[in-house]
Amino acid sequence: MEFLSRHHEVVAPVLAFDTDIVAERAEGLWVSDANGNRWADFACGTAVTNLGHNHPEVIARAQSQLGRFVHSGMIFRYDGIVSVGEKLRKVTPAGIEKFSFANSGAEAVEGAVKLAKYTTRRQGVVVFRGSFHGRTMGAVSYTTSNAKYRDGYHPVLGSVFVAPFPHPYRWGMDEGAAVDHALGELRLMFKHEVRPHNIAAFLVEPVQGEGGYHPAPPAFLEALREISDEHGIKLIFDEVQSGFGRTAAWFAADHYSVDPDIIAMGKGIANGLPLSAYGASVEVLDAWPVGAHGTTFGANPVACAAATGVLDEMGPLLPGARVLADRAFERFRKAQENHQTIGDVRGLGLMIGVELVKDRESREPDGAAMQHITRHGLANELIVIACGPDANVIRFIPPLVATEAEIDRAIDVIEEALDNYEQR
Ligand SMILES: Cc1ncc(COP(=O)(O)O)c(C=O)c1O
Repeated sequence: MEFLSRHHEVVAPVLAFDTDIVAERAEGLWVSDANGNRWADFACGTAVTNLGHNHPEVIARAQSQLGRFVHSGMIFRYDGIVSVGEKLRKVTPAGIEKFSFANSGAEAVEGAVKLAKYTTRRQGVVVFRGSFHGRTMGAVSYTTSNAKYRDGYHPVLGSVFVAPFPHPYRWGMDEGAAVDHALGELRLMFKHEVRPHNIAAFLVEPVQGEGGYHPAPPAFLEALREISDEHGIKLIFDEVQSGFGRTAAWFAADHYSVDPDIIAMGKGIANGLPLSAYGASVEVLDAWPVGAHGTTFGANPVACAAATGVLDEMGPLLPGARVLADRAFERFRKAQENHQTIGDVRGLGLMIGVELVKDRESREPDGAAMQHITRHGLANELIVIACGPDANVIRFIPPLVATEAEIDRAIDVIEEALDNYEQR
């Protein structure tokens, strides 16, 4: 309690912490406090520590760089930035060949959009309702996962056009009908609000994260690719959350037959050290002249060293992650049969959303059920967090190093919570 009052004394309340756990150590799946309590971390620092906390190889690479130098500030060049670029080139979607770097996901998105605007000489950006792209003034202007993110900050950036993203479950439609509806609205937007030749970029999360873990139906991304090609629009995938093993592939794009023109990455890229990146073809990035954008701390040498560890260690874990994902989906689908509160189970790989509803008929969101699960989890050594505009979707994001038994136990605890919630 004394610690928390010191915390409240000097740390601004605007920084929202999900729990009052005061961490002493974190290793692999587990976070522990100074009193010997521990929790299985199924939040992964909001989808960041995909290799588990303090992954030994990532830490060793960072430590070795700490002994050399920690900062360049774009004054001198260093090996880490090149190694990360070379390794990224091998795992990013086809056509992504060069990279620029920043510190956070929001900055990567801003960089990606600035790149699209500069190289197309167009001003407009189309985003999709339910997306989250960050909190800086530009990124928040692209964010529509929840109106609270813009509350108090209007006017946001102009020439940002919001089109629907297909949400079949929420809309009570099958996937095909939802895609048709979303694309129909996009066509109407081009008719009534903005001509396609004013649009620099489509900015889209292939799996909406914060907005409720909605994977894009393949036909939707395919259509965006076609429209982009037809009108010279850059297709930007925001893979800040869905990248680096989260979907049991390097990137969510790997699950689709569509490649982006520009990709934004962050979160898991350095397994907890602050680093983000955005990539495109040589042609596009070479058309952005020296100094048209920049950063002091981006591509920090220690963070780059950590990222080389991630890029070397992640690949071998992906097949196992697919097995874990199949297991988790099977368990949640079975749980759906026994729990009326579970309205929908969706996701890609280990990016799983379980939507909780008051009843299946109305699909009315049940945020209280989620709060109950969070509380029950914390009392039973489990950290699990929510997503979605109504905070009613279980954001199930184990690290790739979790075992099947650990995943089973987490789902047991969630089911226990649902049992006693439904019996109230
Ligand atoms: C898809 C996506 N883009 C961008 C961001 C912003 O990242 P950051 O909080 O590192 O600025 C997030 C963060 O949750 C995200 O999920």
